[in-house]
Parts: sequence; structure tokens; C-alpha cells
Amino acid sequence: MTNSSLNSQAFSQETGLNQPRLKVVTLTKDTTEKFLNVVKKFNVQAIEYKPFLRFYIANCLNELTDNELGTFLINNLQNRETGAILLECEGASEKDTKSEDFIDFNILLSTAVSHLIGLPNLDSMSGKFYARFSVRNEDNSDSYLRQAHRRMELHNDGTYVQEKTDWVIMQKIIESNVEGGESLLLHLDDWTDLQKFYEHPLAKENLHWSSPSSKNVHYKTTHPIFLDENKDGKPIMSYIDQFAEPKNMEQGLYLYELGESLENDNATYSVKLNEGSMLIINNYFWLHGRDKFTANKNLHRELLRQRGVFAENIN
Ligand SMILES: [Fe+2]
Repeated sequence: MTNSSLNSQAFSQETGLNQPRLKVVTLTKDTTEKFLNVVKKFNVQAIEYKPFLRFYIANCLNELTDNELGTFLINNLQNRETGAILLECEGASEKDTKSEDFIDFNILLSTAVSHLIGLPNLDSMSGKFYARFSVRNEDNSDSYLRQAHRRMELHNDGTYVQEKTDWVIMQKIIESNVEGGESLLLHLDDWTDLQKFYEHPLAKENLHWSSPSSKNVHYKTTHPIFLDENKDGKPIMSYIDQFAEPKNMEQGLYLYELGESLENDNATYSVKLNEGSMLIINNYFWLHGRDKFTANKNLHRELLRQRGVFAENIN
């Protein structure tokens, strides 16, 4: 599939290799350079301090794409058949990807994207609308987020916060000495055992969810694993293995079996992100995770995430 439905030549879109649900969107070199020129007068601190600037740069990016990029992203993220986008910039690899300028550019780019698709939630871990974090060879943190030598199991984001989490952006900022660690994705409708767990008596039973101290969320939430169906009547999900608090054997075993089923499903596939590229997914019908890395004492990866809501769900 190519640009048949688009008039703009500012970006291209094609279906992901062997994965028809994933759209690969590439901003042309010209678009990337023009966006860089528009945003270079702003620094990251400016967009952190002035929320309206985030919308301004989002609008700049949209205008550079003949006002088509925003609509394209929203349509694909809300379409049950797709809902996942890999966004890349042509020519990014020619830049000094370790420079401060390139890092700032990437923060500005993902901010423009998040404000084209809706509004990011406050990320309690960072106290900002985005969070940057590192994965290194050694880690003593309190969740699997930064731990390199194990697979981070498939999950949805936002299970332990009260806000809706319609979408997630996962952007790779820097990478050095990394082998492995690919992003893992599973679309709910491709999960072989979906009906088995969705029709289970515990599927809609409320569970308690909490998070370790590093997340800075000082309350518990209560919701079932399968939330009320989407407008189209299909199941949507809010699940993560680490933060569910089963209160009895029945709930514990249901969670255990569900986790085992997800981890062993053959429809999970991996996506390699280049520096500067980002995955944007619908959080309610895509599960995501991360494969383990090959040990390397100099391993370093820096990521940026944003999580938020579509415009119709902004309070
Ligand atoms: Fe996540």
C-alpha cells in the first residue's frame, strides 16, 4: 500500500513488513528539514514551560504535511484493523544522533505528534508530559522498565492510573552497544486465546492495581482486565503482570494463565526502532513489551514515552 489516499508528498506511508496492521510513516527529508527550521528557535525548556507552544509546533508539522498528517495518524490509531504506527524521519541517520540538537529535535518531534493526536497525560514518574529514561547493563530499579537482561512481558500502559490512556508513544532517543531489546507487539484480535480469557467469569471482575514507588502514583486503582467494549463492541484491555494485585487463588491463577498465554502466543512480533523513530499505538487493543538485550557492559539506550488521550476524551 502506498500514498494512494494521500495528497501530501510530505510523508509516505506503507504497510509494515509482514505486518499489515502496522503502518510505517516516513517524513521526507524535506519535511524533516523544514520542521527542524521551524522549531529550532524553541528549546525543550520552552515547550516544557509553555504548554501552548506544544500545540503551535504540532500545527507547524501538520501544515508542512498539507494538514494531512494529524488526520492520518488519528484515523489509523482509532481503526481497530490497524492502530499501530512506526514513524520515522528520512535522513535522520545522517545526523549526529548523539548530539544535544538531535535529542532536542526528537523531543520536539514527538511532542508535535502527541499534540496532533490528542493530549498527553502528566507522567508522574517525571512530573512532565513526557518521560525520558535509560536502560543500561546494570540496574537496581523497582520494575522491569529499565532492566536489560529480561524480557518485559506484554502489557498495556496506564493500568495503575485513573486517567484514560488511549495511546502510547515510545520513541528511541539514543542507542549504543545494543543487541536485542526489540519492541514486542501483539494486537488483541490476533491473540489466539482472546475469547477464552474474555469469556471467563473473571474477565470483567474488578481487580486492584498499584505501582512501585518510582512511579510516584500514591493510590490504587480498581478496574477489570477487560474494560467495557469499544464503540465497535470489540474487547479492549488494561493489563500488566507486575501491578495487578490478585486477592484470592482464583484471581491469581487467572492472571497467571493469561500471562502465560500472552507470552507464548505466536502472533507477537518484534519491531526494531532506529534512533529518532517512534512507535505510536492504540493502548487498548495493542499489547506491547520489550525483548531482552544481549549483555554488554557499555549498553545504553535512552527512550522517551508519552501517554495520553484522544481529543474526545480530554476532560
Ligand atoms: Fe509499557
